[in-house]
Amino acid sequence: MSDSILTTGSYDKTDCSRYNVLVNVFLYPYGIRDFVFKTVALKNSDQVLDAGCGYGVLSQAVQTKVGKEELVGVEQHAFDISWDMLKAFKDVSNGRISLLQSDVRALPYRDNSFDLIVTSAMLEYVPNIEDALAMLKRCLKPRGRIFVFMSRKSLLNTLLFIPFGKPKTYKYKEVERLLARVGFRKIQRHWFPFSSLWLNVWGVIIEATK
Ligand SMILES: C[S@@+](CC[C@H](N)C(=O)[O-])C[C@H]1O[C@@H](n2cnc3c(N)ncnc32)[C@H](O)[C@@H]1O
Repeated sequence: MSDSILTTGSYDKTDCSRYNVLVNVFLYPYGIRDFVFKTVALKNSDQVLDAGCGYGVLSQAVQTKVGKEELVGVEQHAFDISWDMLKAFKDVSNGRISLLQSDVRALPYRDNSFDLIVTSAMLEYVPNIEDALAMLKRCLKPRGRIFVFMSRKSLLNTLLFIPFGKPKTYKYKEVERLLARVGFRKIQRHWFPFSSLWLNVWGVIIEATK
């Protein structure tokens, strides 16, 4: 896929550096790791996909948990539309995560490939979020789970994300309705734990099952 088809919200090098500063100011990598450790159960045979991985905050949290729990059978995959973000990911990764450049609306993975999909702060950039959710659902195995981390609709987020192409933010209920509309079940809300409580001001976390 060539750079020329990149859409708004596909982060270039400058966005990548700015984003790095933003997430570290708010200790986002810490909060994500905290949440993944406490709430996202993994099995040794799981195939895991990080959708819109950026430079890998979520993938790295999963990888740390996999290491800690000695889940040697877990396979991790991640994709992003931005070559620059993927390059930044490669620079910090140990090469054990399969990376792919792709738009979430045109994923080449086979149907029913993944046990778990995690996605953070990406769906806000997709013009038709239902298409993206349907594509992710297609790639999940039956009874596979998705964890969605999203910027909530708020003045703070509107201001924070002005330099990042003004993503569309959602209320929890809107995301819940969208997930239900594309056929996800067992939709439930989660919160960042007490030790990273402030991140609940930023975002919502939703788990759903195919
Ligand atoms: C705010 S960053 C989040 C990155 C990472 N998930 C994280 O939590 O740190 C948004 C990411 O979504 C990617 N993105 C935007 N639109 C996309 C699309 N249509 N398909 C795949 N990735 C996309 C951007 O390139 C960027 O890396």
